[in-house]
Amino acid sequence: MLSSRRVRPRRTPSPVIRITHWIGALSMLAMIGSGWQIYNASPILPFEFPAWATLGGWLGSGIAWHFAAMWVLMAAGVVYMGYGVLSGHFRRDLRPVGPRAIGRDMAQALRCRLSHAAGHYNAVQRLLYTGVLIVALLTVASGLSIWKPVQLGWLTWLFGGYDVARRIHVAMMTLIVAFLFIHIALALLVPSTLFGMVFGRHPSAAPEASVQKGAAR
Ligand code: HEM
Repeated sequence: MLSSRRVRPRRTPSPVIRITHWIGALSMLAMIGSGWQIYNASPILPFEFPAWATLGGWLGSGIAWHFAAMWVLMAAGVVYMGYGVLSGHFRRDLRPVGPRAIGRDMAQALRCRLSHAAGHYNAVQRLLYTGVLIVALLTVASGLSIWKPVQLGWLTWLFGGYDVARRIHVAMMTLIVAFLFIHIALALLVPSTLFGMVFGRHPSAAPEASVQKGAAR
């Protein structure tokens, strides 16, 4: 007998989201590596980043990489944000849900029991994605404020001055790197999402995935 229950069609990331995501991800990695190169020339904390993790080889080249990647990231970011707002993707898929749903999904995630339906973002994902987008915006804004502290003096002032803006820039970078560790780990634990983000559809063999200790289905 056929079930009368309506099956919600699974959504897959649209080409605009996928293309801007991967261009943004690559340029973000280039910005992090080149940013570490620039940081090493004048560290503000008692450590330097290992040379193998930096991009550019020396300060001048690191700066060139940083600015080249910045334009790519900003272009991808504008298209992604514009599409996300105009297509309703943000409202539909990324709108933060209430604290109860976040608490429930967080508790399940900590017990490695958070179910993950391909094509549907759970409360923890929504929180992480919205958070990292805000952090990325703050990273770009604080970066602009230390790049053009005279022309964009008002922005530098808003961040509390050049030195504070630089520290905020480094702190935001650290949050993005922390996000990336969790994000990539989750993508590897639930490969169907990676498949969907690369190919635009989720493998039919894995309609529902659940992150569990020692097994990802
Ligand atoms: C470099 C390695 C990366 C990998 C392997 C990766 C993988 C993925 C995957 C698989 C998804 C889809 C998740 C799902 O369908 O459940 C996704 C979505 C997303 N990723 Fe990444 N990602 C990477 C880098 C980044 C970076 C650098 C950022 C931003 C700082 C980022 C931000 C996002 C956001 C905001 C979404 C949601 C996109 C949307 O639907 O609007 N990712 N990522």
